[in-house]
Amino acid sequence: MLEQLKDLHTQALEELNGIKNPRELELWRIRHMGKRSILTKALRSLAALPLEERREKGAQANEIKTALESSLEEKRKLLEEPLLTSPTDARRLDYTLPGRPIPIGRLHPTTQILNEICDIFKNMGFQVIEGPDVEWDYYNFEALNIPQDHPARDMFATMWIDADMGGEARLLRTHTSPMQIRLMEKERPPIRTIVPGRIYRYEATDATHESIFYQVEGLAVDKGITLGDLKGTLLDFCHCLFGEERKIRFRCDYFPFVEPGVEVAIECVTCQGAGCRLCSHSGWLEILGAGMVHPDVLARVNIDPEIYSGFAFGLGVERIAMLRYGIDHIRLFYSNDLRFLKQF
Ligand code: DAH
Repeated sequence: MLEQLKDLHTQALEELNGIKNPRELELWRIRHMGKRSILTKALRSLAALPLEERREKGAQANEIKTALESSLEEKRKLLEEPLLTSPTDARRLDYTLPGRPIPIGRLHPTTQILNEICDIFKNMGFQVIEGPDVEWDYYNFEALNIPQDHPARDMFATMWIDADMGGEARLLRTHTSPMQIRLMEKERPPIRTIVPGRIYRYEATDATHESIFYQVEGLAVDKGITLGDLKGTLLDFCHCLFGEERKIRFRCDYFPFVEPGVEVAIECVTCQGAGCRLCSHSGWLEILGAGMVHPDVLARVNIDPEIYSGFAFGLGVERIAMLRYGIDHIRLFYSNDLRFLKQF
């Protein structure tokens, strides 16, 4: 057996000399050192020999195996080397070439600003919850003091899922305010929650209107909450988002589910209050609606308005992103144009 192995060793080394590429080398390895090679079979058959003989022959056979292994390694190195170093070899690798760029995705500007808004309120101690996009008439309107035939329904061009069913009808929520009701039905004060979410309006689109966009609703209910708390919270929020220097304006406004209602505007980001096209020469940009939760709304969810009070607000996310990043057309948010998205 040993004689045969020695012959094979010599033959294997001769063959190795003629090998020119890694593929041939691999075939050589399989032929001489693979599972079915004579060497492997011989090593396996040693087990059947008596101890003395096994020791002697085993040692020699293993020597041959080790020798073959190191020849293989040497050859492998020899074959790889020119690829890296030979200046003339056409197959050589130029490791000074820059690598292929790996495109890295990023978050949509709406998501980025949404995260930022949520973080600001989280830092103030608000919890974040979400609600359903398909909503009952009851939550979207009736429970918010907007019964059938109330003129305030005109404020919300609604996409109905089933019409003419009164309070039983379903629709795509026109604002995130219905979550105020869902939340207060389940939880007792103290409540401090924001609700980010997508909303739907049956509207023609233009530079500042889309039929689908995002809002963040806020609600705080507890004993002794006042309009001062609302002002302080929203002032802090605006300063976090638009800088400490930015002036904020609160004015009376009407929303059926709050009393009093307010509209909050910031000093125009383009003209700093001097008046320009963006702010229709008023110097101010409205960014959200808010107010003190209407006593009837609290009573409807069995929270006693004699004991508790609360404030609520609702803001448009794209609107804020537009002001923050100087985007002049809301449609860009849904166009999926990479030239636009890459800028954020
Ligand atoms: N839901 C209102 C809208 O979509 C915005 C709003 C106004 C939300 C006043 C509120 C609020 O919570 O108090 O136009």
